[in-house]
Amino acid sequence: MTSIRLNRDFLKDITRQHTDFSETDQSKGIAPPPIQKPYSNEQKLIRLPDRNEWTTIVGTTIEMAIASRKSHRKYKAESISLEELSYLLWATQGIRYMGAPERAYRNVPSAGCRHAFETYLCILNVESLEQGIYRYLPIEHSLILEHSIAKLSEKIISATLKQSFTGKAAVNFIWSVIPYRTEWRYGTASHRVIAIDVGHVCQNLYLACTAINAGACAIAAFNQRQMDELLGLDGNDEFTIYLAPVGKI
Ligand SMILES: Cc1cc2nc3c(=O)[nH]c(=O)nc-3n(C[C@H](O)[C@H](O)[C@H](O)COP(=O)(O)O)c2cc1C
Repeated sequence: MTSIRLNRDFLKDITRQHTDFSETDQSKGIAPPPIQKPYSNEQKLIRLPDRNEWTTIVGTTIEMAIASRKSHRKYKAESISLEELSYLLWATQGIRYMGAPERAYRNVPSAGCRHAFETYLCILNVESLEQGIYRYLPIEHSLILEHSIAKLSEKIISATLKQSFTGKAAVNFIWSVIPYRTEWRYGTASHRVIAIDVGHVCQNLYLACTAINAGACAIAAFNQRQMDELLGLDGNDEFTIYLAPVGKI
């Protein structure tokens, strides 16, 4: 009972009232962390078609997108195109405007515009891409291959506590969090807003899927260690927070 009460308090805006904002790294004049995790020069950029180059994304009305949004756990054994992937990444984490160097306004909101997430893709069936773990670079609107993994489908199923539909999706969107991006500004008051932020990202994925005959299903239940290992994350400064398989329906 005590822990339920304590955990409940996490949902309240209490920590912020006890946070000394003069003690945050931002207040101390420390430079902000990069808005996108750096990558190696040796990683080849896979350029995604820009919004003005799309030819197959016909769109839908916001009313239709909301009315038809639901969780999908059955997918056709059909690939999704690079253009469709580009569209889903744009909808979930795309940058719509660069402010100051530490500020990138994206297609989803984020407390203090801190955007603490990286998007990894567990690609199983995407046109012209080998299976593997990729990462989205919103600044370049490109992908990089992080690593190839044997038996990827089996591994994602295992890391998601045997939720077998993850292994049948065309792609799993896996969001990691780098908490310091938000902590730099909000210190101990960061974690509740990070949890709120990630919901917006996944909601945009659900809605965007409705325009391309695809479906998604939010997943918050997974094996933390296995998922972080799959992505190659240290599990402390960066770790998995949420994921969603996507496939044609
Ligand atoms: C935060 C969150 C976590 C979820 N985790 C899982 C999950 O681990 N596995 C799963 O099959 N569905 C998961 N879901 C999907 C819900 O079961 C689903 O949204 C709910 O049953 C309502 O169905 P609808 O999305 O079709 O309206 C999750 C949804 C949310 C928002």
